[in-house]
Amino acid sequence: MNNQKNVIEIVDLEKSFVLPHTTVKAIKKCSLSIPKNSFTIIHGPSGSGKSTLLDAITGLEEPTAGSVIFNSVNLYSLSNDKRANFRANNLGLVYQTNYWVASLNVLDNVCVPLFLSGYLPHEARPLALEALKKINVDHLAKQGPDVLSIGEQQRVSMARALVSDPQVIIADEPTGSLDTTNGDAIMSLLLSLKTDFNKTIIMVTHNLEYLPMSTYRISVKDGVVTEDEQEHGLSPETKEKLKHYMSDDDDKQIQDILNNRSSNSTSKSTSGSKAEDKDQK
Ligand SMILES: Nc1ncnc2c1ncn2[C@@H]1O[C@H](COP(=O)(O)OP(=O)(O)OP(=O)(O)O)[C@@H](O)[C@H]1O
Ligand SMILES: [Mg+2]
Repeated sequence: MNNQKNVIEIVDLEKSFVLPHTTVKAIKKCSLSIPKNSFTIIHGPSGSGKSTLLDAITGLEEPTAGSVIFNSVNLYSLSNDKRANFRANNLGLVYQTNYWVASLNVLDNVCVPLFLSGYLPHEARPLALEALKKINVDHLAKQGPDVLSIGEQQRVSMARALVSDPQVIIADEPTGSLDTTNGDAIMSLLLSLKTDFNKTIIMVTHNLEYLPMSTYRISVKDGVVTEDEQEHGLSPETKEKLKHYMSDDDDKQIQDILNNRSSNSTSKSTSGSKAEDKDQK
């Protein structure tokens, strides 16, 4: 059963892929609940089952057993069409690599999820412009997607994820193709979607440096899914920062956490990037 606190409940979920000579148990039996308005990070080694779990949560890949309940709706009890419709209205998706319709400009690419839901161009475009403004990339509206930098593309893809005003934003390795500066900017944006626009964020990442930014963590290893509140032994200082995250002063806290991360890292120079991050908010 779902309750007010959780947006998604996963019950006894399992996913296996049957191949000619073997069966891959990509997700072993697991149950968990994703809190509303959380910043949930799913992490684990390559091949551990993160994307498979995410695909089950998003209604893309029917589990072998178990259920996914999204705001009291049992996703896999819906017909394929109804599930596609439900996804379009309730989920915004951001991936590591973006797929654009090359013949459309940025504005119309951001409109695509609305077009698929039956909106006409004159209805969709004002909403797409609003989404681009939220991410501070409305100046790119008339450009072709192919001329954008990878960082700009990722910001536009966030606008596209936001355009139908979904409750949940799902991001699979959204910083995977980006340098540190652009990666930090995307993390700041995701956090602002949580705090300023009240979204629930579910993000898959390999990058353990981002873990302190989450409010809820799930680890996946060899298909075994566990909640890992304690596993990484967050310091009392980090916990204190996370507490402040939830306050109005979140923007400064985000920057503090990013700066702290950067100052602890000798191999990455991010000087100058913080002002840019701020500009992008
Ligand atoms: N469609 C499929 N058919 C067969 N096996 C699959 C399929 N999709 C995933 N798998 C297998 O399931 C396991 C988990 O894959 P998954 O893509 O979920 O891992 P991941 O944690 O997302 O990895 P990465 O970090 O590299 O993206 C892997 O062993 C993978 O080969
Ligand atoms: Mg993956």
